[in-house]
Amino acid sequence: MNTIDAILTRRSIRSFKPDPIDREQILTLLRAAMHAPSAIDEQPWRFVVVTDREKLQAIPTVHTHAGLVAGAPLAILVCGDLSRLKVDGYWVQDCSCAAQNILLAAHAADLGAVWVGVYPTTANVASLSRFFKLPETVLPFALIAIGHPAEKCEPKDTFDAGLVRWDSWDNGSGQSS
Ligand SMILES: Cc1cc2nc3c(=O)[nH]c(=O)nc-3n(C[C@H](O)[C@H](O)[C@H](O)COP(=O)(O)O)c2cc1C
Repeated sequence: MNTIDAILTRRSIRSFKPDPIDREQILTLLRAAMHAPSAIDEQPWRFVVVTDREKLQAIPTVHTHAGLVAGAPLAILVCGDLSRLKVDGYWVQDCSCAAQNILLAAHAADLGAVWVGVYPTTANVASLSRFFKLPETVLPFALIAIGHPAEKCEPKDTFDAGLVRWDSWDNGSGQSS
């Protein structure tokens, strides 16, 4: 699958077969995540890989909207390490890039995945921090549930020329200069 195909056919998958994910595949997802761009190359991401069935099933008890994670064989908690940041505020974008890379790498490997939001919802940040025993400087950012898909979601075309201005906002929509 080439990159554009992967981007344009990726969908959120929320229903999974119980089959486990190979360790090699998990490492590929993590490698993709760590290959994301980051401001001044700080790479502030950290990851908690969850494959333990009991842990996965307990996650919905500590996150308000994570019921689907109980049915996944794998979840990756993308975290941001704020302890030694040289630039303020960019860690969220850095971690977003890492999370998106996981989604795309999963899709390219014929796995299904969905981003379950954590940061900045204070209650979920606090309870997941406690649940995973994160150090104070490491914030849980996004939880990615991953597995072999048990549902098929067709690609959708979300392109909208009306969302684009060319060269200047007052140049009208959908037309190049
Ligand atoms: C920051 C963020 C938070 C999200 N949180 C959730 C969530 O908590 N639960 C969920 O089922 N999907 C969640 N999603 C997935 C979106 O619902 C999904 O990407 C969107 O509906 C578009 O569908 P698609 O991914 O199939 O294109 C989240 C996505 C992002 C980027």
